[in-house]
Amino acid sequence: MLTTELQLLLKKAIKQVSENEPEIIHLEETPNPEFGDFASNEAMKLSKKMGENPRIIAEKIIAAIPQNSVIKKMEVAGPGFINIWLHDEIFNTAFVELCKLIKSQSFGHLNTGKGKTAITDSSHPNIAKPMGVHHLLSTIIGQAINTLLSRSGYTVIRDNYIGDWGTQYGKLTYAIQTWGDMETIKEDPIPELLKLYVQFHDEAEKDENLLDKGREAFRKLEEGDQELNTLWQWIRDVSIDHCEQTWSRLGAIFDIKNGESFYEKMLTDIIAEGQKKGVITEGNEGALIIKMDDENKPPAIIRKKDGATLYATRDLARVKYWQDELNGDLGINVVDVAQKLYFEQLFESAEKMGFTKMKHIHVDFGRMAFPEGSMSTRKGKVVLLEDVLDEAEKQALQKIKDHNSELSEDDQKELARKLGIGAIKYNVLSQSRNKNYTFDWDVMLSFDGNSAPYLQYAYTRTQSILRKAPEFKTQNSLLLTPNSSEERSLLKKLLNYEPAIQRSLGEYKPNLLCTYLYELAQTFSTFYNNLRVIDEQNPQTTANRLKLVESTGYILKNGLEILGIEVPDRM
Ligand code: ARG
Repeated sequence: MLTTELQLLLKKAIKQVSENEPEIIHLEETPNPEFGDFASNEAMKLSKKMGENPRIIAEKIIAAIPQNSVIKKMEVAGPGFINIWLHDEIFNTAFVELCKLIKSQSFGHLNTGKGKTAITDSSHPNIAKPMGVHHLLSTIIGQAINTLLSRSGYTVIRDNYIGDWGTQYGKLTYAIQTWGDMETIKEDPIPELLKLYVQFHDEAEKDENLLDKGREAFRKLEEGDQELNTLWQWIRDVSIDHCEQTWSRLGAIFDIKNGESFYEKMLTDIIAEGQKKGVITEGNEGALIIKMDDENKPPAIIRKKDGATLYATRDLARVKYWQDELNGDLGINVVDVAQKLYFEQLFESAEKMGFTKMKHIHVDFGRMAFPEGSMSTRKGKVVLLEDVLDEAEKQALQKIKDHNSELSEDDQKELARKLGIGAIKYNVLSQSRNKNYTFDWDVMLSFDGNSAPYLQYAYTRTQSILRKAPEFKTQNSLLLTPNSSEERSLLKKLLNYEPAIQRSLGEYKPNLLCTYLYELAQTFSTFYNNLRVIDEQNPQTTANRLKLVESTGYILKNGLEILGIEVPDRM
């Protein structure tokens, strides 16, 4: 494709003028023809690495690009942009090619990960309590990253490292056995379990001994106590059932849901192995630790002084499992930025233990902030994820009704589901994941501006145009109208779809794809508002414009699919 060709030309030139070979070349379509057709900021990116003036680097890159049939002219602009003008005929060739490609199965699929296995870990709630709205983040971002990976050719194994083991289950089983009534709990397990967990912490504030009792119960669980394990297994089953409902509403699918408990049986051997290797050593008061190379970094604690294992111990076993049993090349954990240090410790520990050859990445995201202040499950204060989904669908349905929808009652509900869930997903994905999220209903359910419903609406508009003009669909002589900047802008945007996927995966940032899709919808809107698509007098133009509309629809749908957002055919 045209953009691939341009990327390749730039890549070769960059390699010539510097030692660098950027994996992904960024090409921006220029909004104003005065600045060419595409612009690249690669020289500016190189400037830091090379310690040279970006404008000079840009000159060098331009000089290193050989004569070719695509580029008409190049110029250095501003602080060091490379502006690129293309030959007019090239656009027609690219257009014909795009129309062909779009029909093929491989469109929107890259092969950067071909032959490699990526294992991801996302959602991973701690169970025995309802999923909170903050669980949306890892679940939704993880889902988009899973699709980005598989679209890039990776074999993807979607793990969900459920928090189903640890001292908290000692506390909970203790609370159940002390204050709980199984009849009542079974009637409505999740809220009852949460209540008991909260009660444990309330009581522990008055009686410190309770914390020891909780730890004691967990130790017994770890030692295989029959009664406690049966109770725990039941808790796990009802909890997973509860989570499944939410995952299914979000369309989140997992291949593995082992959870922390699965790794329990490997821990003794791992600890023994680490001690033998001298990697696991004794820390304070008989705890076992792994020291970090950087002395300023706290060590990873592998076993507590009372002999109980920890979150990190089990995670270490998981890393080993991913390598040994799943044979991964790339490992990704989509987890809150609060665990940044934790993951550094974990990856370093795993390396020291000789457990892993995989490349590990902690794809971190900001925390979710609430207007009324932070949530805490210990105190039982939590915005329930389920409620958020319900509310989103409800508000979407109301908006549909306000617009006097002609759809049947059932279709309205189905549309509300797609819009409501889509709005939430897009809201999460379109923000840079490095920032904190502020939970705000109005933003989440905005129907205009940069939102899922806006993109879904743009898609339905493409479909309604195509429905109106079936007789033109078969026309296949394609030629852009000379001098139509709207056609050219739209085409350039369409050609930049695969690079947008590349970039989005390259940085594990679904928001880059969101931005692309939003801009595509805007460019389409300008095209549609300024040009007549269906012109009876001019079948050639009509056919071409319909092809552009069709391609836009296709890419919007294809891109939203990566984000896990469903598109309706009409709204
Ligand atoms: N269950 C953990 C929590 O809620 C998150 C697990 C993240 N994944 C991991 N491999 N540690 O904090």
